[in-house]
Amino acid sequence: MTKNVSSLLQKVLFAVLLFLAVSQILPAQNQELHWTKTASGVWITKVGQPETVNFTGTSGVNPKLEAINAMNNVDFPLPENEIKATVFDGKTYLQFPLEVGEKIFGLGLNFKTVEQRGRILRLHVDHYGGEDNGRTHAPVPFYVSSKGYGVFINSARYIDVWTGTAVSKESKIPMNPRDRNTDKKWTSKPYSDNVSVLVPAEGVEIMVFGGPTTLDAVSRFNLYNGGGCLPPKWGLGFWHRTPTLYTDAQVLNEVSEFKKHQFPLSVIGLEPGWQSKSYPCTYEWDAGRFPDPAKFIAQLKVQGIQTNLWINPYISPESALIEKLKPFTASHTVWSGFVPDYGLPEVNAIVGEHMKKYQLGVGVSGFKMDENDGYDSWLWPDVTLFPSKIPAEQMRQLYGLMMQKMTTQLYREQNSRTYGLVRASNAGGVSFPYVIYNDYYSHRDFITALINSSFIGVLWTPEVRSSKTAEEWLRRMQTVCFSPLAMLNAWSDGTKPWSFPEVEKQVTEVANLRMQLIPYLYTCFAEYAFYGRPPMRAMNLVEGFTSSDEKLEGKLNSTENPYAEATKKEMKDQFMVGDNLLIAPVFAGETERKVILPKGKWYDFYTGKLAGEAEVISVSPGLDRIPVYVRDGGIIPMKESTQIAPASGEKDNLIIRFYGTKEASYMLYDDDGETFDYEKGAFSWREIRVAAGKDGQLKGTLSKATKSKPDNIGTVTFQFMSK
Ligand code: GAL
Repeated sequence: MTKNVSSLLQKVLFAVLLFLAVSQILPAQNQELHWTKTASGVWITKVGQPETVNFTGTSGVNPKLEAINAMNNVDFPLPENEIKATVFDGKTYLQFPLEVGEKIFGLGLNFKTVEQRGRILRLHVDHYGGEDNGRTHAPVPFYVSSKGYGVFINSARYIDVWTGTAVSKESKIPMNPRDRNTDKKWTSKPYSDNVSVLVPAEGVEIMVFGGPTTLDAVSRFNLYNGGGCLPPKWGLGFWHRTPTLYTDAQVLNEVSEFKKHQFPLSVIGLEPGWQSKSYPCTYEWDAGRFPDPAKFIAQLKVQGIQTNLWINPYISPESALIEKLKPFTASHTVWSGFVPDYGLPEVNAIVGEHMKKYQLGVGVSGFKMDENDGYDSWLWPDVTLFPSKIPAEQMRQLYGLMMQKMTTQLYREQNSRTYGLVRASNAGGVSFPYVIYNDYYSHRDFITALINSSFIGVLWTPEVRSSKTAEEWLRRMQTVCFSPLAMLNAWSDGTKPWSFPEVEKQVTEVANLRMQLIPYLYTCFAEYAFYGRPPMRAMNLVEGFTSSDEKLEGKLNSTENPYAEATKKEMKDQFMVGDNLLIAPVFAGETERKVILPKGKWYDFYTGKLAGEAEVISVSPGLDRIPVYVRDGGIIPMKESTQIAPASGEKDNLIIRFYGTKEASYMLYDDDGETFDYEKGAFSWREIRVAAGKDGQLKGTLSKATKSKPDNIGTVTFQFMSK
C-alpha cells in the first residue's frame, strides 16, 4: 500500500468516525418535507410513518373541495425551509416559524385566553378544569395566525405544544442573555420564534391552510373537514331541559306553562330520568315516568316542539342491549357500565339499531351526549384495552367524535336533520350537528369559549342553569340568545325562564328577539355549511378589526391612538354573529362597558343611531338590553315573532332591517329547514338589495324565488333603521 493511499484511508476512516460521533450527539435528522397541494390553499405532508387512526379518517367526512377551490388561490404561506420535522425516540418533533408580533389563536376550546402565543399546552380531551392547559372538551390541534394561515396536526394523541415558548439556539433573533443580578429587563421568557409540537407517535400528517385572511384560513380548515353543520330550523329556537325525574305529565304541564307565559319553546330536553336506570344507562324508557313515549312525543310534536334525550356512553348490565354488545366493549367499566367500542362497526350497528327502534322510531329528534370527555375518574383509565385495538389514548381523543358520527348517520338515513349537544369533540367534527356545553359556570369564561370555538371548527353554548340574582339571570339569557343554541338547562334545580319575575319581561323580549332573528341566524349557519365561515366568531376574524399600523408598535397610548391600543389587547368579551352583528355582553355587577367598533361606521341595533367608527366607545345600556351593533350597510333579515320555530314549508313573513347609509346587498339562504335535500340542490340564495332610487331614497328589493326551489318567504317589509 502506498503512503498516499494509506493516508487517504486514514482520512476516510476519520471522517466516518467523526460522522458516527456527531450522529450520537445529534441522533435525529430533520426530515425533508414534500408538501402536496390538495386544494386551493391547502397543503398536506407526511412525516415518518403516520398512524392509521387520525381525526379526518375517523370522522369519515369528505372535504368540500369545490367550495375550497372557489376561494382565492394563494401561495404556501410559510417559509418552507423553516418548518422542521424529526422522528426520534418513537415521537415526532415539529417546529413551525413565528414572526415578531404574530398572534396565534385556536389550539382547543379555551375558556380564559384567546391569544395562545406564550403558552404551553398538552392537548387532551377532558372536562375543563379551570385552567387553559390543553385539557378541554375539544382540544383541537389546529392553530391560526394573525398572518392569515393555519396549521393542523392530524393526530389523535396527547400532543404537546409550545406556542412561542421554546427557544432554539438557531433562532433568527439572536440570543440576548441578561444578568438577573443587575438587569431589570431580565425575563424568564426570552423571545421564541417558533411553535414547537411533540406528537407521541412515529409520524404524523400535517396540513397547512392558506388565507389571505385569518377567517379564510379557518374557512378552508372547516371546509376541508366537510363544512359546518346546518341545523334544522327548529334547532335555532329556544330549548328547555326539564328536571331529571320529571314524568311525561310534568313535562307536558311545563310546556303549557311556557304557553301561559308566552315564552318561545322549540325543544324539550329530557335528562337521565327518561331511562329506567342511568349511570350506567339502559337506553330504555322508564315505564313509570314515560309509559307511552310515542304518544308523549307526538303530543309535543303537534305543538311544534321537538324532543331531545340525554345519554352517556356507559351501558348498564341490565340493559337489553348488553347481551349483543358485551363482546364489543372495553376491558374496563365506568360506574359499573360497559364501555362500547365505537371503533367497531358492530357497536355502531347494535347501538344504532336500538336507537332506531326505541328512540328515533318513536320520534326523538336528537341527543345530548354527556360524559364522554373526562374528569379522569369519570372515564375509563388509559390502561383500558379496546377490542378494536385503538389505544385508550386515541379513544379518549376520539370518543365524542365517534358518538357524533354514529348518531348523525342515523338521522341522515331517515333524511331528517338533527341538532344536539355533546361534551367532547375534536378536529374532524366540523360538520356534525352538535354543540358543546359543560358543568363549569363562569359567565365571562363562557363567552371567551364562544369566541374561541370559532377558531377550531366547533360550536359552544353558554347554557343558562341558575343564578344568584335576577340581574345575572337576565345577563346570561341575553348572551345565550346570541349563541348557537339558546338553552335553559334546568336538569338539577328546575328553574324556568320566568324564575326571576322582576326580569321576566326582559328575558321574554330577548328570547323573542332570538326567534325573530332565525332567518339571519339560519343564513349564518348556511354560510358555515357552504363556505366554512363560523356563525359566531371572534373579533380577530373580522377584517379591519386590528390596527395594521405597524408604526404605532411600541407607541400606543390611550389619548393619541386609543383604537390601535385597544385592539392590540386580547379580545375576550365581544364577538360577531355573522358578518353584520356585533355583540357586546354585559356581565352581572357591571353597568358600563367598553366596546371596540372596527373600521367603518357602526349603528345601534335597537335604535339605528350611529354608534361610532373605528373607535372605543363606553356604553351604559341599562339592564334591559344587551348591546348589539350593526355595520354600515348591514341587512338583517328577521321574521315576525312566534313561539315556535317555523315548520318545514311554513311561510315566514320577513321584516328586513337595514342600517346605515351605504348601498348594500345580502344573500338570504333558504331550504325546507328539516331534510338533507339541500345537499341535492333543494335550496336557494336570494339577493336582498338596498340601493338609492331615482328620488335618492334608499329602497329595498328581494330577488324572486327560482322556480322549483324552496320558497318559504311570505310578505316582505323593509325597515330603514338609520333615518
Ligand atoms: C351532567 C351534565 C348536566 C346534566 C347532568 C345530568 O354531567 O353536564 O348538564 O345533564 O349530567 O346528570
